[in-house]
Amino acid sequence: MDRYAVIGNPISHSRSPAIHAAFARQTGQRLTYEALLAPLDGFADAVAQFRVDGGRGLNVTVPFKREAFALADAHSPRAHAAGAVNTLAFGPDGVYGDNTDGVGLVRDLRHNLGCRLEGSRILLLGAGGAARGAMLPLLGAQPASLTLANRSTDKAEALVATFREQRGSIPLDACGFSALAGREFDVVINATAASLANEAPPLPPGVFAPGALAYDMMYRRGDTPFLAVARRNGAARVADGLGMLVEQAAESFVLWRGVRPDTTPVLADLRRQIDG
Ligand code: ATR
Repeated sequence: MDRYAVIGNPISHSRSPAIHAAFARQTGQRLTYEALLAPLDGFADAVAQFRVDGGRGLNVTVPFKREAFALADAHSPRAHAAGAVNTLAFGPDGVYGDNTDGVGLVRDLRHNLGCRLEGSRILLLGAGGAARGAMLPLLGAQPASLTLANRSTDKAEALVATFREQRGSIPLDACGFSALAGREFDVVINATAASLANEAPPLPPGVFAPGALAYDMMYRRGDTPFLAVARRNGAARVADGLGMLVEQAAESFVLWRGVRPDTTPVLADLRRQIDG
């Protein structure tokens, strides 16, 4: 059977094996998918060993996405834009690196949440790897504008500067959180690591336009701190990143197997498990 895995450190919490097992059952694909713990200084060795053992592809998670980029022989345009790789495919011509996180986000927003991104004013919070990976797919959705806000303004400005060519005619700007006062947005996406510290980015309360969707790339049972604040400040709808997790997995599955799984039942199952 073809062998796949998710590799990271830590990895025991990963839901990817269960998601891919569900995709494989549903589509009749014969494959195995496991969780691989790599030592922090042993990513490349672990990947090489997995290939020697017959592995066909890997999902890559924290903290190895940039190392995976360096390891790949060829990259998709979206992996280039992200500067990070979450999907490796091993073929006769070498290692192909893709990044399905941003497209997974956009698919979740559009298909699962019915969010119209075209013509929307989008606010993306954060300027780390998660935000960078979302930039090209969000620009590709043809929003009315894309604003990147971050605690350190200079990091937001530097990130936006690297997308000047890809933005086409879409207005793209960067600022700190306090500079958002007096502006409003239709879609506000939290790509900061603030939830890990149980905090919400300090947004001015008026950023949510009537009907706005607040989206957190993190997920957990109940609202994340950002989603709780967003509700209080008038966001009409809130969503966490569980759908993004399932959709990025589906995109990896498509790349490896050439078959698109139906994500709806898999996401519903996962939601039930998390809500307990
Ligand atoms: P990731 O790869 O998950 O994006 P990262 O590259 O470490 O992680 O980036 C973390 C992001 O979360 C950064 O944008 C960081 O802001 P700074 O650039 O100002 O450090 C942001 N972040 C982390 N903790 C935060 C907090 N408590 N409030 C707001 N932003 C926070």
